Amino acid sequence: MIKATLSPSMMCADHLHLEIDLKALEASGAELLHFDIMDGVFVPNLMLNNEMMKSIRTATKIPFDVHMMIVNPEQKIKWFSLQPQDIVSVHYESTPHVHRALQEIKNAGARAAIALNPATPVEVIKYLLPDIDMVLIMTVNPGFAGQKLVGQCLEKIRLTRKYLDDAGYNKISLQADGNCSFENVPKMRAAGADSFVVGSSSVFSKDWTIESASKELRKLLK
Ligand code: DX5
Ligand code: ZN
Repeated sequence: MIKATLSPSMMCADHLHLEIDLKALEASGAELLHFDIMDGVFVPNLMLNNEMMKSIRTATKIPFDVHMMIVNPEQKIKWFSLQPQDIVSVHYESTPHVHRALQEIKNAGARAAIALNPATPVEVIKYLLPDIDMVLIMTVNPGFAGQKLVGQCLEKIRLTRKYLDDAGYNKISLQADGNCSFENVPKMRAAGADSFVVGSSSVFSKDWTIESASKELRKLLK
């Protein structure tokens, strides 16, 4: 089983005190920082962008986990100053040229991942397996923080893990993105997820500090 890792969702961080949150995220051992890039077309919301990523890059060594909720991402990968340790997810549903989008990410020197909306069957990634390092399973509908888990996505995580393993790709990481709460994370882990996008449901919850929530999550993921 792939080691469990946390990818805090930067759209949920305190944007007025970002440097303080970044220090706490470093102290909590976050393996990635999750950036939700939204264009208001692929999803009905606008969110983070390449300029904000550039500023944050100057303040942390943590690699970036860039979740592109934008149309035609293959035309826009070059807008982002990606680093080798970064991982970039593009949505299967966001372009007719999803394989080319993965190639563009690799050409930019980063790792590539495919993201699936809740209703998209896992079989669509069949011809992408040799080109991806991770599958992002949306466990809420993309675009907003603070939503509730789409229940059938637990089964989808299980099916995706089995699909990858049966195809001989047991090293491809499986990320759950959305409502990764203290209640849901153990179920997502048991279903086969190894990477967790942790946002307002846990690490950026008003009832916990970043450190205490991260510690609690890691205990649950043991
Ligand atoms: C949803 C975003 C996630 C996540 C935020 O589009 O991709 O970052 O939902 O975390 P929660 O769901 O815990 O607020
Ligand atoms: Zn996301």
